[in-house]
Amino acid sequence: MVIREGGTRHVVSAEQFSPSLLDELFASADEMGRRLQAVRPPLLPGRVMATLFYEPSTRTRLSFESAMLRLGGQVVSTENARDFSSAIKGETLEDTVRIVGGYADCIVLRHPEEGAAARAAAVSPVPVINAGDGRGEHPTQALLDLYTIRAELGRLEELRVVMAGDLANGRTVHSLIRLLSQYRGLRVTLAGPAQLRLPEPTVRALRRSGAEVREADSLLEAVVGADVVYQTRIQAERLSEPISEAGSDAARFRVTREVMAALPETAVVMHPLPRVGEIDPEVDSDPRAAYFRQARNGVPVRMALLARVLGE
Ligand code: NCD
Repeated sequence: MVIREGGTRHVVSAEQFSPSLLDELFASADEMGRRLQAVRPPLLPGRVMATLFYEPSTRTRLSFESAMLRLGGQVVSTENARDFSSAIKGETLEDTVRIVGGYADCIVLRHPEEGAAARAAAVSPVPVINAGDGRGEHPTQALLDLYTIRAELGRLEELRVVMAGDLANGRTVHSLIRLLSQYRGLRVTLAGPAQLRLPEPTVRALRRSGAEVREADSLLEAVVGADVVYQTRIQAERLSEPISEAGSDAARFRVTREVMAALPETAVVMHPLPRVGEIDPEVDSDPRAAYFRQARNGVPVRMALLARVLGE
């Protein structure tokens, strides 16, 4: 998991995680889940984590902070770094990271620009964890997504996965695909509005990994025979102008009761959340709706990651 050999343990891309590292991390997350049920000695006493968020967040920031506190560490935080940090005075990301790296033992960074986490890692004296860089990646979300698939279905091989919604701008999709493509027998169905297709280099990398890739015109068609439906929100804030056709197209990619009727009984529906209409709330009571369980997994998975990044 090192970016620079012998150097700091930055987490910038899902590509840093091999199946054997993922196995170790998930075993540790299982153990963290058990720790949450009992009073245990703290694992990271006296360590400080900084969260530096230049974009809105609920789940990612709070679950990272909860994970650190539950490990016995401490947290310093700017939840609106764009307006309330020196960025507003014109300070560069690099300078801010150098400074915050003097106050904390690791920095969890969310930023609107693709590549921001790599830029921060290049100058930071402490580990940087990418909590979302524009439309680039969101590797820790992918970790909890993969952990959820393993917990819900009991396997990571021979999966039939439907990736739905905004595949162009959804950074969680980009990271999850990087993790999934390391496992044997992957079949991916891409199901989203025509204007929001998965970037071509990602499609090519997926095919090169040996995965079968196909596209579907509607979710109803895509979910037949699926194991996982990974639904995502249209990232309106990343579109230069609202795509009206995408809006109307989006109706064909909603998870509705009709879609659930076509989905196998053993499958699960996931979503990184927040959702804004792409999953009908009527579906929430279906046992296959795994998105709230998925969000809860953020704490033990991030505990395992922090223990690895900050532990001995
Ligand atoms: C995602 C994100 O920020 O990329 N949210 C999250 O971290 N769970 C997905 C989104 O905002 O649509």
